[in-house]
Amino acid sequence: MAEHLSPDEIDAARAHLPLYDDRNRLKLGTFATNVSNGMSISRAPTSYEMTWPHTLDLARRAERAGLDLVVPIGRWRGFGGETNFNGECFETYTWAAGLAQATERIQVFATSHVPVIHPILAAKQAVTIDHISGGRFGLNLVMGWFKPEMEMFGAVQREHDERYRVGEEWLTIVKRLWTEDKPLTFEGEFFSTLEAESWPKPVQRPHPVVMNAGSSPAGSDFSARNADVSFVTVEDPATAEPMVSGFKNMAWEQYGRRPRLFSGAYVVCRDTEAEAQDALREILDGGDRQAAKNLMSILGVQSRSFDDILRQKSAEDRFIAGWSAPTFVGTPEQIAQRFVDISGIGVDGMLLGFHDYAVELDHFEENVMPLLKEAGVRG
Ligand SMILES: Cc1cc2nc3c(=O)[nH]c(=O)nc-3n(C[C@H](O)[C@H](O)[C@H](O)COP(=O)(O)O)c2cc1C
Repeated sequence: MAEHLSPDEIDAARAHLPLYDDRNRLKLGTFATNVSNGMSISRAPTSYEMTWPHTLDLARRAERAGLDLVVPIGRWRGFGGETNFNGECFETYTWAAGLAQATERIQVFATSHVPVIHPILAAKQAVTIDHISGGRFGLNLVMGWFKPEMEMFGAVQREHDERYRVGEEWLTIVKRLWTEDKPLTFEGEFFSTLEAESWPKPVQRPHPVVMNAGSSPAGSDFSARNADVSFVTVEDPATAEPMVSGFKNMAWEQYGRRPRLFSGAYVVCRDTEAEAQDALREILDGGDRQAAKNLMSILGVQSRSFDDILRQKSAEDRFIAGWSAPTFVGTPEQIAQRFVDISGIGVDGMLLGFHDYAVELDHFEENVMPLLKEAGVRG
């Protein structure tokens, strides 16, 4: 079975993929281009809109700029407020299938909620998109912290750590359906299957890349044990190195695994620092504070990853500009330096949000990418 391959064998099997090739030391992707308002809980002016032509254009721009992956948000309802933030949201497997057909190199992800998609269906959908894309599909797993969203489905909102046990069983079934040659009969605590068939198998070997961003103790452990791409939040590279090496060592020593470690950023880059600060101010001034409050209150109760951020005085601003991800504000030189510093402490990749993806991706390609190449973190 797939997991019996050694980390070296897994890396070799995936060496042709942007996430695994040795061209770019720091991998880069876009995040949240499938939901209204993206990562900005703000009414500040933008060309961003939630339409198929626009989301498709953004994926193509990302590919043209040389980025390595596109990752959607798994979302089923909005957070209220004036904007009903994220309330318009493309379902992510079908979104990924469309983008897979329309792109050539970039890795395309779906973000799947474990409690509401049956693992047989998830395995089959993933395989189908893997075939459409010629082996470029990735699956981001979320356990479902947004209670009203899970209640839409009549699903039970389980206790926090139990959600990861559900996820473990779910993913075991999915990986076995992807990799085993016999029908699967499985009797678990949460799922059972009887002679489940799933052919064809994925194009990718050993199987599509699995991503998970859990960062609570239970989430981090799940991720180290099961994911190919995990996440940490890096606030300050000067102090974050022990966290990065700590996670990697834990995954290696406890599970013999070598997941790539990613982080996220909300980028506000302009030619001058003053312009960048003005742009950030405009996003904050246009903030939909009610939606931000709604999101923060539910997040505080249902997720463990955001406790530190929620305690900060500026927490609301951090959610308005970037869904709480660290904000990179400044000139191309300043932004590039932050990426170089993050790469320097062993972070393998970054998922990026912008207020106006189309305009800012082009600016990023022209002004930041050359500096990253010069610094050797991009090929
Ligand atoms: C890069 C990234 C992507 C995420 N994508 C989603 C998502 O699409 N949908 C969602 O409900 N949560 C998403 N989350 C939130 C994670 O599921 C998350 O960290 C969650 O709160 C689980 O953490 P926990 O271990 O503290 O419970 C994402 C987080 C990060 C950092």
